[in-house]
Amino acid sequence: MAKFQPLQAPKGVSEYFPDRSEIFEFVRETLIGSAKGAGYQLIELPVFEDTELFKRGVGESTDVVSKEMYTFEDRGGRSITLRPEGTAGVMRSVIEHNLDRGQLPVKVWYSGAFFRAERPQAGRYRQFYQVGIEAIGLNDPEIDVEVIAVAQRAFTNLGLKNYSLEITSLGDAESRARYTKDLREFISTLNLDEETARRADINPLRLFDDKRDEIKTAMSSAPILLEYLSEESAAHFARVQELLTALGIAYTVNKRMVRGLDYYTGTAFEFVHHGLGAQSGIGGGGRYDGLMAQLGGSELSGIGFGIGVDRCVLACEAEGIALPDSSALDLFIVPISSSAKGGAVLLAERLRSAGLQVDIAYGDRSLKGGMKAADKSRARFSLVLGDDEVTSDLASLKNMKTGESRSVTISTLHDSSLAIF
Ligand code: HAM
Repeated sequence: MAKFQPLQAPKGVSEYFPDRSEIFEFVRETLIGSAKGAGYQLIELPVFEDTELFKRGVGESTDVVSKEMYTFEDRGGRSITLRPEGTAGVMRSVIEHNLDRGQLPVKVWYSGAFFRAERPQAGRYRQFYQVGIEAIGLNDPEIDVEVIAVAQRAFTNLGLKNYSLEITSLGDAESRARYTKDLREFISTLNLDEETARRADINPLRLFDDKRDEIKTAMSSAPILLEYLSEESAAHFARVQELLTALGIAYTVNKRMVRGLDYYTGTAFEFVHHGLGAQSGIGGGGRYDGLMAQLGGSELSGIGFGIGVDRCVLACEAEGIALPDSSALDLFIVPISSSAKGGAVLLAERLRSAGLQVDIAYGDRSLKGGMKAADKSRARFSLVLGDDEVTSDLASLKNMKTGESRSVTISTLHDSSLAIF
């Protein structure tokens, strides 16, 4: 028979398989736990949307929309895009299902895969994972601080230490109108190629994002948005800082922060990890006060964040964070005779029905091989089943941490049997 070549995953995707999938799950669940702990509710959305949503929502001047989208025509001739981020889809859904007509703010969380056709490198993937939250319908600095605090608590709960928070304000429409006038004037003095000039024309702020050295140098003397804030925007930003300080959340103001998506207004923030090299942004977000209206909804404001699960996994690994024991099994059963194999399945199923996490050493293993598997499983207890045990209904239950063993009756073994030591 012809030998088939093994296949590989497409370039640049992140995937998690045992044992590393455990830390991925720990990170994702910890991030979600922080969102739930502040009253955010699940919103589960499609991974593909009409291309128009991202063009209008995220902005055509952004790298994400102009260079990085996975866009294709479906069988009905519609232009479809794999979601590069979560906020636009949440807004589409909130508008479509009238959630904004109910109690405000609408507070939702989401978790899943996102897609950007970037040049893959450590911490930058073409399919990656985010946990995000959005709080829609409130323009108070208190909700800005809540959103930042949810991210901060998530990182604290992961055990991360080597990171910092940067914040800025992109101002309201009035601040930005005054600012962009001056910025456009400044940009008109630069000698830009056609494509760059076109991007700058759609959104002049995008030039701060440009990776080329000559543009970086030119933009270092450009006017700065933070110095153009209206009285109202400045007061909002001052209140955010006051509350962060009151909560003991350390931050620095980064006057030159530019978020990669066009919808941002007002408060914007990024969490940067110092052990990750170039792809150091572990999470970021901000306000997007015009987005709902731009997508055909009401004039409601909103704020949220997206945290990169993949980068948090790398950050946990860089900081040597140990997984909590809770992910381990309760019991690992080691059958060492053929009659014991059936008994092991019956016992495992009975205990699983009672809510315990139980696994079995499958295959015909020796006692030594079976105990090695028990060790690897990180189960709290192990139980060896041989012909003698099956006949006598007595087996020895071993506490894998202390090494201590106790005799137990197999047919009556239950949850509290494991609490005997
Ligand atoms: P973002 O800054 O584009 O914001 O992405 C959020 C986080 O996703 C980043 O900080 C990073 O950790 C992770 N991330 C982004 N791209 C990649 C990639 N190619 N590979 C691995 N990780 C990546 C947003 O997506 C906004 N929707 C966040 C938001 C929500 N703003 C308001 N609400």
